[in-house]
Amino acid sequence: MSDELLLRSRAAEGPLLEVQDLHVHFAGRGRLFGPTPPPVKAVNGVSFTIDAQRTFGLVGESGSGKSTVARAILQLVDIHAGTIRLAGDDVTKVPRRDELAFRKRVQAVLQDPFSSLNQTHQTRTIVGDGITRHFGLKAGEQRDERVGRLLDDVGLSREYLDRYPYEMSGGQRQRVSIARALAVEPQLIIADEATSALDVSIQSQVINVLREIQRSSGVAFLFIAHDLEVVRHVSDDVGVMYLGSLVEQGDADGIYEGPTHPYTEMLIASIPVPNPTVQAGRRALRQSFDNDAEPPSPANLPPGCPFENRCPVAMDICREEVPAAVAAHHGGRVQCHLHTSGPELGGESVVEFITKEARTLT
Ligand SMILES: Nc1ncnc2c1ncn2[C@@H]1O[C@H](COP(=O)(O)OP(=O)(O)OP(=O)(O)O)[C@@H](O)[C@H]1O
Ligand code: SF4
Ligand SMILES: [Mg+2]
Repeated sequence: MSDELLLRSRAAEGPLLEVQDLHVHFAGRGRLFGPTPPPVKAVNGVSFTIDAQRTFGLVGESGSGKSTVARAILQLVDIHAGTIRLAGDDVTKVPRRDELAFRKRVQAVLQDPFSSLNQTHQTRTIVGDGITRHFGLKAGEQRDERVGRLLDDVGLSREYLDRYPYEMSGGQRQRVSIARALAVEPQLIIADEATSALDVSIQSQVINVLREIQRSSGVAFLFIAHDLEVVRHVSDDVGVMYLGSLVEQGDADGIYEGPTHPYTEMLIASIPVPNPTVQAGRRALRQSFDNDAEPPSPANLPPGCPFENRCPVAMDICREEVPAAVAAHHGGRVQCHLHTSGPELGGESVVEFITKEARTLT
């Protein structure tokens, strides 16, 4: 069986990407001759899967570990524990000699294309280099033709073949980085805040390009962003990260319409909506959270739930035990003691429960 067929048959058997119980620690930086500080536990037991042709969106506030998950998949950081499989292959065990083949399978599109694109190269080289490296097609007319087709796919005309990064706008440069990622025909593209720096209208154009590309090429995406609305628009499935844990994950619409973790609810309650009644409800809900409490340091995590000091419905068990991931009603998973201990939710959603609790507290 050829490599390509073998890869496809393996992918058909299970998820394209399978991250299981991933832990990533960074050594703490101490003073010379001082005691060694504890490690920064940036990712703590994260598990999720992405099927071929699907988009998994990762959201969470700054420092929650989203980029560290991405960097672990891209093999840019050492992992402390866990496994990462791509079409069945453990990517943490890829020998150096197979690195080129791995780079072909997973590509990244990052926030700042200006720093990630070589300023001294025209688009034909920026996008064409990967074609030469992975398919052996040397610079010339044939390669330009292939680059031209990729430029069509990302909505840029062929005039851009001659352009240097500094001759393009932010949105155009981001389209070039998407074309560069696509050029090697990867199985997975990791887009880490790829559209965050763009103006809203340009952002939605670039997102439409990503959606169209997925439809036509079938590449899977791990889409990381702060903006919850953007993530919902792009993703089939969503994972919500808080302080190194994936506290909730599942079908995007299911989570947005019926969040089961108080932190997810807090994030959704901060999305402005035009309806004044709904907006007032969201504001009241937001106020029930301790909005001034600082999240704990990832170098000094609490023994229980990391969200405990901000959660309006925290219980004793929340201060003592890390909640395990359990099935959520939207079909995904949630890590919150409310679903296993404490008061019976009795058919109430977490939103209704928090709203009611908040009323009794005031
Ligand atoms: N190389 C490193 N050395 C030490 N600590 C690090 C390193 N990289 C990340 N961290 C820490 O790990 C935690 C997670 O960082 P990460 O960049 O993954 O978060 P993020 O969710 O991507 O945040 P943002 O939304 O701001 O991009 C943070 O506390 C960060 O300070
Ligand atoms: S485990 Fe407890 S503290 Fe954490 S989110 Fe759930 S209810 Fe709140
Ligand atoms: Mg990041």
